[in-house]
Amino acid sequence: QARDIIREECEILHLTDKQIREIMSRLHNDLIKGLGKDTHATSIVKCWLTYIQDLPNGKERGKFLALDLGGTNFRVLIINLGENHFDMQSKIYAIPSHIMTGTGVALFDHIAECLANFMKEHNVYEERLALGFTFSFPLKQLGLTKGILQRWTKGFSCSGVVGEDVVQGLKDAIARRGDLSLSVMGILNDATGTLMSCAHKEPHCRIGVIIGTGSNACYVEKTENCELFDGEPGKPDLLINTEWGAFGDDGTLDFVRTEFDREVDSNSINPGKQIQEKMISGMYMGELVRLALVKFTKMGLLFGGHGSDLLFQRGSFYTKYVSEIESDKPGDFTSCMEVLEELGLSHATEADMAGVRHVCECISRRAAHLVSAGIATLLNKMNEPRVTVGIDGSVYRFHPHFHTLMCEKIAQLVRPGIQFDLMLSEDGSGRGAALVAAVACRQRLQFA
Ligand code: BG6
Ligand code: GLC
Repeated sequence: QARDIIREECEILHLTDKQIREIMSRLHNDLIKGLGKDTHATSIVKCWLTYIQDLPNGKERGKFLALDLGGTNFRVLIINLGENHFDMQSKIYAIPSHIMTGTGVALFDHIAECLANFMKEHNVYEERLALGFTFSFPLKQLGLTKGILQRWTKGFSCSGVVGEDVVQGLKDAIARRGDLSLSVMGILNDATGTLMSCAHKEPHCRIGVIIGTGSNACYVEKTENCELFDGEPGKPDLLINTEWGAFGDDGTLDFVRTEFDREVDSNSINPGKQIQEKMISGMYMGELVRLALVKFTKMGLLFGGHGSDLLFQRGSFYTKYVSEIESDKPGDFTSCMEVLEELGLSHATEADMAGVRHVCECISRRAAHLVSAGIATLLNKMNEPRVTVGIDGSVYRFHPHFHTLMCEKIAQLVRPGIQFDLMLSEDGSGRGAALVAAVACRQRLQFA
């Protein structure tokens, strides 16, 4: 029976509790290495210091600009933080693919141009505003406004930026134009932005997670555990950008990786890098499903052994299809049929559709369990009685069962007595960037 063989074949995508606990213990070790003075350099999970030590206290006020680069959309935002309200306007600008893989100078010129156009449209072109920059790539931060790009991830590969200060890149582009006056008050990652944004609403929020194009987490660590920290002494906490997407780059996850993971990796623009991210996030999930479907078609288990040109074409199975297919009620295949028709597979039978849905479920469940392992590792490490986890990203937002799968799994994995909530971040990381800028301005005033 084709159905049973597909189920058997998909068993490799099932993570046992024993495997999950092993993953947690390996991630814990890597987090400790990332934080340690003597082990950081060789650590795979970098645990970058963010230089953010204060969560928002709700008293932030003023008008701020923000840039949000690195997820599905590039956005420019203007945010007004008031007494009992906040007002946010934003616009999405395209980053054409020749810019994503062109030169760094062209990228920053493009960003500065979008910023200038946005400021004109919002009548703040002449004003000197503070700006927060969400830049969702791994940065070695040397301060709140200095971040050296370590590697590009998620399909970007602009030349001349790795090893350089990204804030300087932006400032240079602004200077080349000569028409804008801004103060860049902070650079941060989207996971950090999510944490800041959620903490503004919910004081128990101490972890920010992204399950979107990429995957990452940021959390509140005790400053005394951050051996490399050289910033302001005397504050108990520091936000850490784990960059856990790189977990597994040294083979740590090989014991659970499959042929599909290896193929996704070798076809990517960064082979050998971001191994955990490639098992979880939206940039890769659809492709993992497609590779499994191709295999089962070639084995004669699906579509009568006949695929379509699109099915055999790399990147043709979008991650949003996984969410759509799993949104069908049991026994109903309406969305699944639509997706298969789009892929030129209208000859699919109901048994094929059940098979396709099973593959989607296995891949997305594994992703949810891997993220859960990561979150539970952080919760156990922090060992606080009650923590809210702020989460953002297209996979978490649009997949119909991700949230439930995560709640169930994390509950099994955390130490007894630890309570947690998973909170969808409503406003994206841009608001977090404005809050970082606001906190920095507040402090600058205090110390002035
Ligand atoms: C958003 C942020 O809300 O979450 C983005 O504002 C961020 O910039 C994102 O990168 C992650 O989601 P995705 O799915 O767009 O990568
Ligand atoms: C990638 C980036 C990381 C970001 C994540 C989610 O892993 O390296 O900085 O937070 O994607 O967007």
